[in-house]
Amino acid sequence: MKTIDRVRLASLMEREQKKFVAERPKSKALFERGRKSLLAGVPMNWMVKWAGAFPPFVREAQGASFFDVDGHRYTDFCLGDTGAMTGHSPSATVKAVEEQARRGITLMLPGEDSIFVAEELQKRFKLPYWQFALTATDANRFSIRLARQITGRPKILVFNWCYHGTVDETFITLERDGRSGARRGNVGPPVDPSVTTRVVEFNDVPALEAALAKGDVACVLAEPAMTNVGIVHAQPGYHAALRELTRKHGVLLIIDETHTICAGPGGYTRAENLDPDVLVFGKAIGGGIPGAAYGFSQDVADRIVAGQNLEDCDVGGIGGTLAGNALSLAAMRATLSKVLTKEAFDRMIPMAERWTLGVAKAIAEAELPWHVTQLGCRAEYLFQADAPKNGTEAHDAMDFELERFMHLYAMNRGILLTPFHNMALMSPQTESDDVDRHTKVFREAVRELVA
Ligand SMILES: Cc1ncc(COP(=O)(O)O)c(C=O)c1O
Repeated sequence: MKTIDRVRLASLMEREQKKFVAERPKSKALFERGRKSLLAGVPMNWMVKWAGAFPPFVREAQGASFFDVDGHRYTDFCLGDTGAMTGHSPSATVKAVEEQARRGITLMLPGEDSIFVAEELQKRFKLPYWQFALTATDANRFSIRLARQITGRPKILVFNWCYHGTVDETFITLERDGRSGARRGNVGPPVDPSVTTRVVEFNDVPALEAALAKGDVACVLAEPAMTNVGIVHAQPGYHAALRELTRKHGVLLIIDETHTICAGPGGYTRAENLDPDVLVFGKAIGGGIPGAAYGFSQDVADRIVAGQNLEDCDVGGIGGTLAGNALSLAAMRATLSKVLTKEAFDRMIPMAERWTLGVAKAIAEAELPWHVTQLGCRAEYLFQADAPKNGTEAHDAMDFELERFMHLYAMNRGILLTPFHNMALMSPQTESDDVDRHTKVFREAVRELVA
């Protein structure tokens, strides 16, 4: 197997940085202007993380691609880190949003769209009752609050190196000595997260059992396959054990499908026949218009209703003035009924297979100890030979320098991957030519690396 020569990597990176800057004078000028009014020159702090010296500023996006202000076209495999998994500005969603925007945007009153969307979610996920929020983060936070309320227990349990949005309780990591503490980079944690949270490795049944047996855990918040530290698949039998142990210890199981919706119209839950107590689905649900949904089993719904307090329900910590607004719900209705359909997944999943096969072949040709994996219409390469079993193994394989090079090389050749790891997502408009262009660029990058 070949290894990466770090001196060579640094010199290739320098060449790519120069190319990126030289070919993007308008983005550079906007970034310099932005630094005088935006913290670090960007509207949201993650946007500084792109591999170039500045992010490309976008002129317009449509379907599976976008143009930057310098006129470069990019095939977009980042798709707003899943927010635009529908493809950019899908016409059915745009039409519904245009029509609704003229008829009222937010009212603090329900409309028929809310029932239509809840009925559609019932069919997809087999959970009877639904509520709406503006983001998946909020849907997770509200689900955790409800789990604490109805179980009367203080803690939650998450998997090491998970990501569920900016939910305070989840920014915890497990150290090698078995202790847990604030995740590196955790900005101003309100309390030490080990006060609120137990953390175990994914796929480790004995550790899960020991943590739940302590009797203080209200809920497990889980992605059914981890997607935010590279993809980590559940091992055979793990979901059955997770469900059995959560039931045995009276712990609610919250499945966060925000990314794993890539597995099909009913997400991983339907594809693998899971049976969660609570399910969260955000980001792509409204084609990029802010919105998220969380659903409950009959039992959970009954217990929530039994504890509801009419007088104080607006100040209890669950809500959001704009949550469940008419515009979000119109966007969700159109997106679910006309865009993220079974037919769309039937196109998207084979595209991800093609992407995975192309990358696997190029890795084999270059004799690199890397690995590529797929989950529905999402695929990802990792800088290690074998599939990781848990968050630590996946995190250990991360290589910030190498990752930045691969991303910048791709961007310079009109391909955008998600900035946080090596993930590619297929939209309904992604074509085989787009996928093959990625394979070609990926092959060129690894050839240069090992030359
Ligand atoms: C699995 C998962 N859940 C929830 C979220 C939070 O989504 P948002 O940032 O839109 O609130 C994310 C964000 O990446 C996610 O990956």
